[in-house]
Amino acid sequence: MTRVFSGIKPTGEVHLGNLLGALQYWVEDQHRADSFYCVVDLHALTTPQNPEELRAKTLDVARILLAIGLDPEVCTLFVQSHVHEHAEMAWLMECTVSYGELRRMTQFKDKSESSEFVSGGLFTYPALMAADILLYETDRVPVGDDQRQHLEITRDIAMRFNSRYGDTFVVPAAAIPRTGARVMDLQQPTDKMSKSDDSPQGTVLVTEDPRSIEKKFKRAVTDSGTEVRYDPENKPGVSNLLAILGAATGRTPEEAAKGYGQYGPLKSDTAEAVIELLRPVQERYQMLADDPGQTAAVLRSGADKAQQIAASVLARARRNIGLLSRP
Ligand code: TRP
Repeated sequence: MTRVFSGIKPTGEVHLGNLLGALQYWVEDQHRADSFYCVVDLHALTTPQNPEELRAKTLDVARILLAIGLDPEVCTLFVQSHVHEHAEMAWLMECTVSYGELRRMTQFKDKSESSEFVSGGLFTYPALMAADILLYETDRVPVGDDQRQHLEITRDIAMRFNSRYGDTFVVPAAAIPRTGARVMDLQQPTDKMSKSDDSPQGTVLVTEDPRSIEKKFKRAVTDSGTEVRYDPENKPGVSNLLAILGAATGRTPEEAAKGYGQYGPLKSDTAEAVIELLRPVQERYQMLADDPGQTAAVLRSGADKAQQIAASVLARARRNIGLLSRP
């Protein structure tokens, strides 16, 4: 069976853009492939974090993933730092990738320009991501388009390691599978929906209460004119609503546009569709929050299962690169 691996950072809160863009696809994928989903807390450390907050968010993201429908009987859900092989493998990756390759990463350039403290980990981030992927003999990596360069460097690292030290890693596919909708900010529909700290009115959280969701859609920025049609270029606001309505109801944006002559009803129907989509998710989320033992048990067995595979791939990599096995 095809092996799938993907990761989500426990920074910021999970929003509608994450859900409709990628996470819904994870839920479908778990039935098609042997899927591993990882809350990548080590990656969060590349920028300074408040310890209590990081711990809380790591658990919270795991709960949300369960609440949206990841089934621990079907897929493997775990926290990256619980499988220490990730950190160890990352070192082997760092020593296989070149300084020049890391320096060319556009995400590093963007992030390092906009922050005052640039950690070494931010620079070597792609090596840790390569470790995540290669530890599980991954065939396919469903990620957003912004991760394309990281996926390519992972392939380069795997091929270089294999050619230097003999066949060790499965080289993952380059293709980024087509995932869900591209959800934009409700206030700035030309920007992707992002963390709520950056745009509180434009971002809808998966855990947000229905009244607040309704308000945000009511105040969503639309476009001049009155016609409802899917045209992201000329009507970014309306098109975003149609993309959300479509994704929330299992239709294309064009299909979702049918029958609307005005913005008002489109807004209220989109709000309602989102509220309905999130209702069962929020119920499950609350149940999980009330019973911490349940999520803990999932993460424990997820880490055990992940570690079995990770340990054997790491052992192979250690052997092939020439590390002496412990007597
Ligand atoms: N870098 C990814 C992101 O920011 C998260 C991530 C870390 C990841 N390790 C991964 C995604 C491995 C896919 C596979 O979205």
